[in-house]
Amino acid sequence: MTEEIPGPRAYPVVGNLFDVRSDEGSLVAAEQLAEIYGDVFRLNIAGRRQIVVSSAELLIQFTDEHQFEKLPPPALSAGQGPQGLFTARSDDPDWIQGHRILMPAFGPLPVADMTAGMKDIASQMILKWARLGKDNQILLTDDFTRLTLDTIALCSMDYRFNSFYSELMHPFIDAMNGFLSLSGTISTRPKIYNQLLGSSDIAKRKEHNDTMKRIAKQVIDKRRENPVDRNDLLNTMLYGKDPKTGAAMRDDLIMAEMINFLIAGHETTSGLLSFAFMYLLQNPKAYLAAQQEVDRVLGTSSIDAAHLKQLKYLNAVLRETLRLKPTAAALSKHIPSRRQNEYVTICDGKYHLKNDDIIRCLLTKCQTDPKYFGEDAAQFRPERMHEDSPDFSRLMEAWKPFGNGSRSCIGQNFAWQEAQLVMALVLQNFDMRLVDPGYQFVIKQALTIKPKDLYVKVHLRKGLN
Ligand code: HEM
Repeated sequence: MTEEIPGPRAYPVVGNLFDVRSDEGSLVAAEQLAEIYGDVFRLNIAGRRQIVVSSAELLIQFTDEHQFEKLPPPALSAGQGPQGLFTARSDDPDWIQGHRILMPAFGPLPVADMTAGMKDIASQMILKWARLGKDNQILLTDDFTRLTLDTIALCSMDYRFNSFYSELMHPFIDAMNGFLSLSGTISTRPKIYNQLLGSSDIAKRKEHNDTMKRIAKQVIDKRRENPVDRNDLLNTMLYGKDPKTGAAMRDDLIMAEMINFLIAGHETTSGLLSFAFMYLLQNPKAYLAAQQEVDRVLGTSSIDAAHLKQLKYLNAVLRETLRLKPTAAALSKHIPSRRQNEYVTICDGKYHLKNDDIIRCLLTKCQTDPKYFGEDAAQFRPERMHEDSPDFSRLMEAWKPFGNGSRSCIGQNFAWQEAQLVMALVLQNFDMRLVDPGYQFVIKQALTIKPKDLYVKVHLRKGLN
């Protein structure tokens, strides 16, 4: 006999909409509900049941591809036209084709070939910081957003947004932020509200989407007019063939993929870099250990892909950062169509799941579950995620900041290499300190999470390499 899944009372029409609204964002609201209702609770959002889970054990179960499947977030798949890899359903022929064509282009070797592009943009940021000098206050998240957007655009499609040469963010970023924020609002509102009062928001969202498409089209047209002999993602999409069917990608799908890469490929990594420095600055011993490793491996030489393999402590810092602050903070799952006739239960048969439930794994909670990660689970302790730690393999089973299985992040190698490279360059060239030594983390939530108002100052250690 199964039990009713606990959760706050849902009201007619609005359901639990107001339970997940808070000044600090829906993630904090969900975390607070988890404190009240425990590892599993239910919500009614826009007429659909959501099951929110917060334990490592349940995360391991829901990220088993044999049992559950990714459900693309409705907030994003609400856009018009074909869906790119991130937002497509797993049975969408466009996802199958894109996955087969693009996976090899994100492998370790092609990504190692992108080192020069990553260094190019990172050097722009390092030079800017060096020139502005030690008294200048840097809003870390903003410069990392400039850096990661420019890096993904340069490395994947040889396009320069030149964000370090402009005070204003590129129009693509404004359009993207507008699109994402409106998509979030529209998808959580009751349908009836959208039908009666939501038309101007829907029109505005379309405008933003059109702007992003226009920029993507300009990049495609420019490449077609000036073809280059290079192995980047854009050429892979324009000229690559599906190894199984021999079909090429349509232009509207290439545009959708480009927008996906630009969105999925920069905010997440920018947040990772910001959080990693936040933790290092709040933990001076870890900062010193990371800088000493960089000094030992790099000294004053110019960084290359071979150095990165040796930065094991830095790897542990990045893993621990993404455990505590997974910048894509939740994974959405559902019961796949092949299991729709089964009676699916969780928690040793205690709760029954319905076919159209949306399951949301709160990574911030699951990956800090003290039952799995120990009593100090909420503390930043990179040693626990070091590859030489005896507990490493077990802990990695409940470490899912890049998702899982065939739907895991295609850009993981790219993001990792970029984050390692930028951290190493910053530690090699500067001593960094917090403007407010007592900085307390406040979350800034959009599609991803970031630390709010994280201001630092940097002091040049020695001549630039
Ligand atoms: C998928 C996180 C960087 C492109 C995902 C997923 C997560 C994730 C959690 C799975 C989402 C789900 O299951 O709903 C991250 C994090 C990053 C990062 C934390 C950086 C620290 C990147 C980069 C790119 C990228 C740099 C592009 C170059 C994608 C794409 C998918 C994806 C296209 C969809 C893959 C598919 O379903 O076939 N990412 N990502 N991501 N990511 Fe990333």
